[in-house]
Amino acid sequence: MKSGIKVFAPASVANVAVGYDMLGFAIDKPGDEIVARFSDKPGLRITKITGAKGRLPYEIEKNTAGVAAQSLLEHLGETQRGIEIEIHKKMPFSSGLGSSAASAVGGAMAINELLRRPLTKRELLPFAIKGEQVASNAIHADNVAPSLLGGIVLIRSNAELDVHRLHVPKGLHAVVVYPHIEIPTKTARSILRKEVSLKKCIQQSGNLGGFIIGLFNSDIDLIKRSLNDVIIEEQRAQLIPGFYDVKAAVLNEGALGCSISGAGPSIFALCGNSLIAEKVGVAMQRVFSDKKIETTLYLSDINQEGAILY
Ligand code: HSE
Repeated sequence: MKSGIKVFAPASVANVAVGYDMLGFAIDKPGDEIVARFSDKPGLRITKITGAKGRLPYEIEKNTAGVAAQSLLEHLGETQRGIEIEIHKKMPFSSGLGSSAASAVGGAMAINELLRRPLTKRELLPFAIKGEQVASNAIHADNVAPSLLGGIVLIRSNAELDVHRLHVPKGLHAVVVYPHIEIPTKTARSILRKEVSLKKCIQQSGNLGGFIIGLFNSDIDLIKRSLNDVIIEEQRAQLIPGFYDVKAAVLNEGALGCSISGAGPSIFALCGNSLIAEKVGVAMQRVFSDKKIETTLYLSDINQEGAILY
């Protein structure tokens, strides 16, 4: 057995209410682990997958972590290197937690670490994006960028991968509830109307700007006033049983805002401190348990590190 490395890539909340395909933040848990080691057999191989219940392919070109890893190896001119990777899925599929993005980030990160960091973390972005494309068929970095870099991230342009970390006020806490239902991202994207009214565009732009200023000035009231999605949420809420009941309960407990995490079904809330976050978590789970829907709850600071070497 040759020596290897292990990396962790965290889950993330995309859209963050007011930044569809533009905003995302990383949370501490859950996340995927990828192990990489050299082997005597030339080329890249996936030798083990756990936690995926047989749902992930071993073929490199069909696997998000595999594609991310392979595209990085091609870029580095290292395709003849013998490398084995193991994928340990520690998060649910189609959950709105950026599961495929975490695997893709892990794939690129693992190769970079194994080869002793020829690229910076930020330079891994395009390779991780290629991996995620296998799953989502669209290019949007709002899960990949926060999973890789950590923090709250604004993607000014997905085409140019113009990605910026935003300031995170002290005490800001995230609560994410995952109801055990699956919503494929492709489905959640396909139901969206292609046109947005000028009125809504103006409202949402104001909210996005307000949210960003609120973060930079640690202006909690401004964040609260701004965290209001007038474009996407109303179209996707129908896919999540009890969404509006959860939202009402969460806001009643003092959260700054609450909306769908990524493409759903997970729902996130941002809170000004950990005490409120705990109460919000209880409220979220209560609504779903009344509806006999099982849930998993994640309470987290904004994860500032992103993907890490274990
Ligand atoms: N921005 C994406 C969406 C995130 O909402 O469809 C999910 O991949």
